[in-house]
Amino acid sequence: MSKEKLDELARHREEAFLGGGRKRIDAQHAKGKLTARERLDLLLDKGSFSEIDMLVKHRSRDFGLEKHRYPGDGVITGYGKINGRLVFVFSQDFTVLGGSLAEAHGAKICKIMEMALKMGAPVIGINDSGGARVQEGVVSLGAYADIFLRNTLTSGVVPQISAVMGPCAGGAVYSPAITDFIFMVRNTSYMFVTGPKVVKTVTHEEISSEELGGADTHASKSGVAHFAMDGEAEAIEAIRRLMSFIPQNNMEDPPVKECSDPADRIDEELDTIIPDNPNKPYDIKKVITSVVDDGDFMEVHADFAQNIVVGFARLAGRPIGIIANQPAVLAGVLDINSSRKGGRFIRFCDAFNIPIITFEDVPGFLPGTDQEWRGIIVNGAKLLYAYCEATVPKITVITRKAYGGAYDVMNSKHVRGDINYAWPSAEIAVMGPKGAVEIIFSKQMANAENPEDMEAQLIEDYKTKFANPYIAAERGYVDEVIIPRNTRPKLIAALMMLENKVDSNPKKKHGNIPL
Ligand code: HXC
Repeated sequence: MSKEKLDELARHREEAFLGGGRKRIDAQHAKGKLTARERLDLLLDKGSFSEIDMLVKHRSRDFGLEKHRYPGDGVITGYGKINGRLVFVFSQDFTVLGGSLAEAHGAKICKIMEMALKMGAPVIGINDSGGARVQEGVVSLGAYADIFLRNTLTSGVVPQISAVMGPCAGGAVYSPAITDFIFMVRNTSYMFVTGPKVVKTVTHEEISSEELGGADTHASKSGVAHFAMDGEAEAIEAIRRLMSFIPQNNMEDPPVKECSDPADRIDEELDTIIPDNPNKPYDIKKVITSVVDDGDFMEVHADFAQNIVVGFARLAGRPIGIIANQPAVLAGVLDINSSRKGGRFIRFCDAFNIPIITFEDVPGFLPGTDQEWRGIIVNGAKLLYAYCEATVPKITVITRKAYGGAYDVMNSKHVRGDINYAWPSAEIAVMGPKGAVEIIFSKQMANAENPEDMEAQLIEDYKTKFANPYIAAERGYVDEVIIPRNTRPKLIAALMMLENKVDSNPKKKHGNIPL
């Protein structure tokens, strides 16, 4: 081959590598952001990236766009590996027309999504874009819708992860929103349906982009983001860690890791972790990290609805999803946000064959007009529905309270819990002793000579009768009352027993989860 031909290819590649040019790359760095290519370098195993469509250009001739035709059209797409496993990626290049999305850019993303679906490998998208490319008009909107459709059809087949590392506004937010996990970076990324200027015009609120739709806002207030990170490199490292817990697709089991933490390891501290006073909090994360392999727990949604804790860990090397009431926050009560958070996490685990371990200490659902009027009924039902529908191995440990409807919801035997353990400190009842006594004996106490003494005695009687795990164990609603220190070996034994579990739901197009 002639040297000219090789030189021509080198010129094309060089042009593509420069994106929107040196000046815009410098501007990107000055904002504390990496370029689209630098992000992929960090995300993928060294030397594993194969680029697709590097030389694709847009075909628009409107509004001077013909003078701005950059190879790649503002998004870098292809495939590579994370810890040796195949992933498909796209990374929007803000230096090219602000990473704006139109016909060619959108088609490149759709192409790799379709390949990911065929090959059964995850899709990771890095978003950094001014949104629909204004010059290409409705074609840009069509390109977005093409992506939304593929996000939806891909959902539950291969994992989809979004990293938002710059602007993501208007309808563009709906692609990440459909994906399984959203990572954001503090101070450099934001997501909103309408930005601060429109907000000011419509509602007269003055608010910054960061406050309206920055990483902390979405990780703690709206729950849109699952992870808020301090920097891009940290976010990318967290994505790589997340990938280590999840399978490539819905036909695979999650990857087993070699484990040096003994399966029969006990922890005597668990025997005393529950305070004597049932109204005293303790940190359920201490129970989780004590039990799982090497104390390694990747919490998801750590800053949102902290009254429930969800995340990934391993037992004897096998990935598990954990859902746990958190007595240290709002006494672990279930409310709208914790139900949404738990329900969504359970559905991810169930879609991708990840066994679910539930730690339960729940006083019930949160009362009040705020919750009722905003729909605790329909939102609580999401968590219930998710548990009922899930067919992966499901194990429960009741550490303390399992009261009322929340007892049913939190993976009770009745909603197909496979193995349900209780600690001796468990209190399984319709409600707490005080509330129960007030309802049953209100008339007697009103007429009593000494109502306080009578109430104290009745509470004691109720506790003896119901505030324990033994009535439930008599019925087989609890499979075994276990000594807390043995929780890890017990969970591992149950998980191994359930390894070949087969269960299914009636055939249907899809259920109608109360959205
Ligand atoms: C075309 C765009 C663009 C867009 C940015 N650029 N957004 N080009 N279409 N949507 C270009 C700019 O012209 C500029 O080009 C370069 O990208 C960098 O933009 P700057 O404004 O200099 O950067 P910055 O100051 O960081 O501001 C970023 C920004 C701002 C906040 C995103 O660019 C912006 O407000 N853009 C418009 C956002 C928008 O309204 N998009 C449409 C949203 S509606 P040069 O040549 O100077 O480097 C939408 C609907 C989706 O997206 C619907 C889906 C259903």
